[in-house]
Amino acid sequence: MQKDIVVSGIRSTGFLHLGNYFGAIHNYIKMQNDYNCYFFVADYHSLTTHPDPKDLKQNVFRVAAENIASGLDPDKVSLYAQSDVPEITELYLMLNMLAYKGELEKVPTFKDKVRQNPDNVNAGLLTYPVLMAADILIHRAVKVPVGKDQEQHLEMARNFGNRFNQRYNVDLFPEPHVYRFDEQTVKIMSLDGNGKMSKSENQNATIYLNDEAETIRKKMMKAKTDSGPTEPNSAMPDYIKNLFDLMDLVSEKDTAALFREQFNSCSIRYGDFKKQLAEDMIRFVDPIRIEALELQKDEERLRKILKSGAERARESAVQTLTAARKAIGINYY
Ligand code: TRP
Repeated sequence: MQKDIVVSGIRSTGFLHLGNYFGAIHNYIKMQNDYNCYFFVADYHSLTTHPDPKDLKQNVFRVAAENIASGLDPDKVSLYAQSDVPEITELYLMLNMLAYKGELEKVPTFKDKVRQNPDNVNAGLLTYPVLMAADILIHRAVKVPVGKDQEQHLEMARNFGNRFNQRYNVDLFPEPHVYRFDEQTVKIMSLDGNGKMSKSENQNATIYLNDEAETIRKKMMKAKTDSGPTEPNSAMPDYIKNLFDLMDLVSEKDTAALFREQFNSCSIRYGDFKKQLAEDMIRFVDPIRIEALELQKDEERLRKILKSGAERARESAVQTLTAARKAIGINYY
C-alpha cells in the first residue's frame, strides 16, 4: 500500500526550544516510520523579514542539525531546504493567479504582521499562505503536522488546490489536512507562567535545546513558584502545574509522583523540586545539544543530507509540476 504523504515546514529563525520539541519535532519523529515524509527548512518564508545574508546558511544548517539531533532520521524522511526545490516557487507563481487580494488581506496572521510591522508590508508577506500552499501541494500531501495557529493557512491550501482542480478540470491536488499523531500533545508553557514557551518572548522563561547545564539551572531556579500549598490536596496554580507537566516529560515517573505527594501533603519545597527538575531537564537536553553541535561542525555531512533530501523532494515535485503545467496549457513542444 502507498504510504500517505506528509509535508511540514520548519521555520529557520530562532533557536528551537522545548515547546518546539514536544509540539512539532516529537510529532515528526513519530510520523517518520509510518508515512512518506517531506520536512523542509522554510528559508524562503524567512525572507519576508529580510534576514542578514551572512546568517542564512547558518540558520538553515542549525535548524536541520537540531531536528536530526532530536531524532529526525534523514534516511527515513526527505529533509531539505525549501530553496533547493525550485519547483515550489514555480507552483507558487501559478497559485498566485488563483489567490485573491481580498482573501489574503483577511488572514489573521497577515493582519498581525501588518500591525507589528507597518513599515514592511511586502507582497511576500501577503502571499505567505500561497507559498505555504505550494510547499504542501507540490508533493500532493494529505497530512500536515502543524499547530493550531496554522489551521487557517491550511484551509487556504485546500482552497487553492481545489480552485486549481476546478479551473483546469483536473484531479491533481488532494486536500491536505492538519494532522496530529496523538491529540494529547502537551503545550509547553513558559516558566514565568505567561503563555506558551516562545522563540521571541521572554527568553529566560524558555528552555532552548542548545541551553547549557548552567543556563538551565539558572532559568529553572527563576521559574515562578509561591510559598506553597497550605491546605492538603489543594488545586495547583497554573505555573506550578506547568512545572509538574515538564517533570512528567523529562523525569522518572517515581520522581514526579513523589513531588506530587509532597504537594498534596503540603510538604513540598519548591527549591528542591526545581533543582530536581533542572537536573532531569539537563539529562534530557544535553545529548540533543551535544549532537546538534557536532553535526553543525560536520558541514560535509549536513550538506550531503540536505542535498539528498532535495533530490528526493524534487523527484516528487517535478511530477506534480509537469502535470500542473500541462493542465494550464504550458506544454508547447
Ligand atoms: N508557516 C509555518 C510556521 O510558521 C511553516 C511552514 C511553511 C509550513 N510552509 C509550511 C508548515 C508547509 C507546514 C507546511 O510554522
